[in-house]
Amino acid sequence: MSVTSGGPLLGTRLPHLLYGADYNPDQWPEEVWPEDVRLMREAGVNLVSLGIFAWSRLEPTPGKFDFAWLDRIMGLLHEGGISVDLATATASPPPWLSHAHPEMLPMLADGGRLWPGARQHYCPSSPVYRHATRRLVEALATRYAKHPALAMWHVGNEYGCHVPACWCDVSADAFRAWLQRRYDTVEMLNHAWGTDFWSQRYSSWDEILPPRRTPTWPNPSQQLDFMRFCSDALLECYDIEHAVLTERSPGVPVTTNFMQFFKPLDYWKWAEREDIVSDNVYQDPLDPAAGMRAAMSGDLMRSLGRGRPWVLMEQSPNRVNWREINAAKAPGQMRLWSYQAIARGADGVMFFQWRQSRAGAEKWHSAAVPHGPAESSPAWHEVVGLGQELGRLDVVCGSRGHADVAILLDWESWWALELPSKPTGRLRQIEQVEACYRPLFEANITTDFARPVDDLSGYKLVIAPSLYMVSDEAAANLVGYVNAGGTLVMSFFSGMVDSNDHIRLGGYPKPFTQLLGLNVVDFMPLGNGQEVPVQLADGTQATGRIWSELIEPAGAEVLAHFSGSALAGRPAVTRNRFGAGTAFYYGTLLDPLAMAGWLRSTWTHAGAKPVAETPSGTEAVRRTAPGGSLLFLLNHEEVAADVSVTDAGVNLIDGRPVQPGRLTIGPRNVAVIFQERMEEGRR
Ligand code: GLA
Ligand code: GLA
Repeated sequence: MSVTSGGPLLGTRLPHLLYGADYNPDQWPEEVWPEDVRLMREAGVNLVSLGIFAWSRLEPTPGKFDFAWLDRIMGLLHEGGISVDLATATASPPPWLSHAHPEMLPMLADGGRLWPGARQHYCPSSPVYRHATRRLVEALATRYAKHPALAMWHVGNEYGCHVPACWCDVSADAFRAWLQRRYDTVEMLNHAWGTDFWSQRYSSWDEILPPRRTPTWPNPSQQLDFMRFCSDALLECYDIEHAVLTERSPGVPVTTNFMQFFKPLDYWKWAEREDIVSDNVYQDPLDPAAGMRAAMSGDLMRSLGRGRPWVLMEQSPNRVNWREINAAKAPGQMRLWSYQAIARGADGVMFFQWRQSRAGAEKWHSAAVPHGPAESSPAWHEVVGLGQELGRLDVVCGSRGHADVAILLDWESWWALELPSKPTGRLRQIEQVEACYRPLFEANITTDFARPVDDLSGYKLVIAPSLYMVSDEAAANLVGYVNAGGTLVMSFFSGMVDSNDHIRLGGYPKPFTQLLGLNVVDFMPLGNGQEVPVQLADGTQATGRIWSELIEPAGAEVLAHFSGSALAGRPAVTRNRFGAGTAFYYGTLLDPLAMAGWLRSTWTHAGAKPVAETPSGTEAVRRTAPGGSLLFLLNHEEVAADVSVTDAGVNLIDGRPVQPGRLTIGPRNVAVIFQERMEEGRR
């Protein structure tokens, strides 16, 4: 789906692509600051995320604030023409707070406490923590709302990264209150949690606990509700700060930084509360699929913002420090991955962090300004070069992407799918999503992510990989989408349970048996490394992994069948015409080659078109600007690639005209081609 252009992300405040870094001047003597600002200007930096972990410097003792240093650095940045994404600094409570209130420290499921000395050591439901954050944010917002350097607010940092859940007594109370709002009566809760199983029937609210460490599996519906509650509890922390900021600092956009496909937080709900979606992306240079994975999270961020541009809030200029092995980025890789984020809808590229720390747990994490002289650091030169280039790309600001295809991703279903005690423990949501995403990525078919309850009518193809849990509303929405002419691809273990994680009785997958024209009679999960042979309709042999199942067709046409195991001769892949549309189904995870070929047939059937045909390893993505369109060509390989370009334009990176025909893109290089006219249907 596409939406019209909305102009620069921060409007007239900063009408350029955002470029900068986390900036922690509180870690440095003030003499260093003017040098920072000078180097920022040299690198083309126009925005810094300021003071993310500065709480103990901003409020050295309870309720006594020291803003003098922040005033000075805000002034210095403003004089240097650099805007500020001002942090609320609430991600790491100061020692005095947890010292006075040890009950605010988070508790694990087995009763162990997490202690101060790192960061994020707070119980999300703690009234002490919430009260202290409100007081700090009120003081910050009051003081800086009108500051000329202020462009954006950065709430907290990576909510849930280290402490996504807490099992303490305060959390238990908050969980009970959350459950009362959801269920009204204990009897309704008993029904939803299926408490007649294993003698778990509750007679009063007081008996109900978060799923603490139990002898064996805790009640799955209880676990699912606890995951919902935990995401909401942190969202309440964000909301407290957000409310203060919108009241005292109206018109200044608010964000908090996401972490790609982060399981504990339902980012669909979170993104609705943000003015700007932002993301932290730390791909491992040693991961051969890093490029695909970064593209996938970029597509997620664009989708979370419902098409609005987002911000790559953090990436590393070079190495990180938190993996077992922290590989360096290859020359050009940081630049390439930055353009990739922009291609997928980012209107800003920022680093963690500006100046490399000399003390603390992250002193071996790379930064824009290294420990040694900047001039001799290749990473610094890449940072400077990219800043200069981005300064020429104002036309990208506010442009929008377009996708014919959507992959459904529902956090609650993801949580339920990965709870234990299933037919197999090897079914992981994001692996199933990636199996579908990879062929689309490699074919340059732009893909959105969507919720199962969204209006899907703008998509030609919708894919539902292992959508285990569906609400009645979602089930009706998917059936309605196909009935009205849509094309749906659904995989095994979809539609199994309702929103309480209760089986949908009457034959699997109950809400979709008519839509798919089949019944699934039984599951035969595969062992580690085990493969089952599959024969495609054209006679090609393939293999299935992880899962197989006994499918009884009830109207569906068989496109591939199992050709070995007890399932030999039984359907593996099917197609069913339903209403004005088509529903495809696969009952095993096809090997990547077969998956790519088969998915291609589904998107061809649906009429989804690639942005461009490119050699393998070169990614093509398009954004649409008011005056034309921007074709991003990104060569991920270490050798040059020849791409055939169909329309004339200008490569904005070097200002050179591009004629229709062959365009050579160097190793790990990029072209951003502005094309004034677009052919019909090639958005
Ligand atoms: C996260 C955090 C940063 C920093 C980086 C290091 O993204 O938000 O504060 O710890 O990781 O990679
Ligand atoms: C044991 C228990 C049963 C049931 C089965 C499942 O035998 O006694 O209650 O949990 O395992 O295999």
